[in-house]
Amino acid sequence: MDRITLRRPDDWHLHLRDGEMLKAVLPETARHFARAIIMPNLVPPVVTGAQAASYRDRILAALPEGMSFEPLMTLYLTEDTDPADVAAAHASGLVKAVKLYPAGATTNSHSGVRDFDKVRPVFETMAEIGLPLCTHGEVTAHEVDIFDREAVFIETVLDPIRRATPGLKVVMEHITTSDAVDYVAANETNLGATITTHHLMINRNHILVGGIKPHYYCLPVAKRASHQLALRKAATSGDARYFLGTDSAPHTDPNKEQACGCAGCFTATNTMALLAHVFEEENALDRLEGFTSLHGPAFYGLPVNEGTLTLAKGAARSLAGKLATGEGPVTQFDPGHPIEWDVVG
Ligand code: DOR
Ligand code: ZN
Repeated sequence: MDRITLRRPDDWHLHLRDGEMLKAVLPETARHFARAIIMPNLVPPVVTGAQAASYRDRILAALPEGMSFEPLMTLYLTEDTDPADVAAAHASGLVKAVKLYPAGATTNSHSGVRDFDKVRPVFETMAEIGLPLCTHGEVTAHEVDIFDREAVFIETVLDPIRRATPGLKVVMEHITTSDAVDYVAANETNLGATITTHHLMINRNHILVGGIKPHYYCLPVAKRASHQLALRKAATSGDARYFLGTDSAPHTDPNKEQACGCAGCFTATNTMALLAHVFEEENALDRLEGFTSLHGPAFYGLPVNEGTLTLAKGAARSLAGKLATGEGPVTQFDPGHPIEWDVVG
C-alpha cells in the first residue's frame, strides 16, 4: 500500500499556548486535524468555564482565514474547582473534559491537585453528567524514581479514584509504560488511553545515548524499549480504547536547549506522516484510521469528521526543521531518520 485515505483525524491532547505562540502553532494542527482537546495549562491556568470560553475565542481569532478547526475545551482541575461551574460549562457544550495534573508533575502544574480527596465532589459530578477526566498520570513524590512515576500513579492514585467513583470516565493520557497498557487491558469500562506519536518512535536511549537530546525530553519521559514496544502494539492493535493524543507541546529552542530545559516535543507538523511510518512498520496501516479518526470520537460521544486526509509514500525526506514563531524558533520533532510518507490531500 503506498497511498491511504482516512477520515479527517482529531488530536485528543494538544498544547496550543496563547498569544504569539498560539498564532504560530495553530495552523500546524488545523492543516490536518479537524478538532483537538486543548490543554488548559496556561499561565494562569484555564480553571473556570468563563476562562475556557475566553481561551476558545482567542484560539478561533488566531485561526487563519480559510482554515477550519474546532477547539474542544478543558478545565484545569484545582482543589478549589466548583462542581457547579464544571457542570454548567459542560451543559453549555463548551467543555469536553477536565484535566487532572498532580501538583508539580509538569509544565505549569503547580495549581494542580495535592489532596485527591478534596476533588471527590467534582469527580462525583463528572460521573453524573458523563464528563471525562483526563489524567496526567505521574506521582510527584521526590522519592519515586522518574521512570516509575506512571506505574505508581496507576496503583496509588488512578485505581483508587476509579474505585471510589466507578461511573467516572477516565482518559489515561500520553501513556508510556506496559503497566498502563496492562491496566487498560484489565479494566473494560469507562477507560481510554491516548498515546503520543513520539512515544511510539523513541525510547530513553534516544534521549540519552551519544549525548543528551533536549528535543526528545518530555513528560512523562520516554521509558525503556520494552515499554515502547508495548505502546506500539497497543496503538496498532485496533482496540478502540486507544487513540491519538499528540501532546504536541511547543517550547522555543532557548527554553529547550539550556541547563534546565523544558519538557515537551513539538510534533504537530509531522505527526500524520510519522504515524503512517510507524503503522506501516507494524503492518497495521489499515488500523491507522481507527487510532487517529474513529476511536476518539467514539469515546467522547462525538460524531466522526466528514472530511478526509490522504497520505502517500514518496521520496524519503528528513523532517528536521524549525517553526518560526513570534517568541523564537521551535524545533519540530525529528525521529532522526528519513520518512517516506507525507500528507498529500
Ligand atoms: O512534555 C510535556 N510538556 N508534558 C506535559 O505534561 C506538559 C507539556 C507542556 O505543557 O509543555
Ligand atoms: Zn500534555
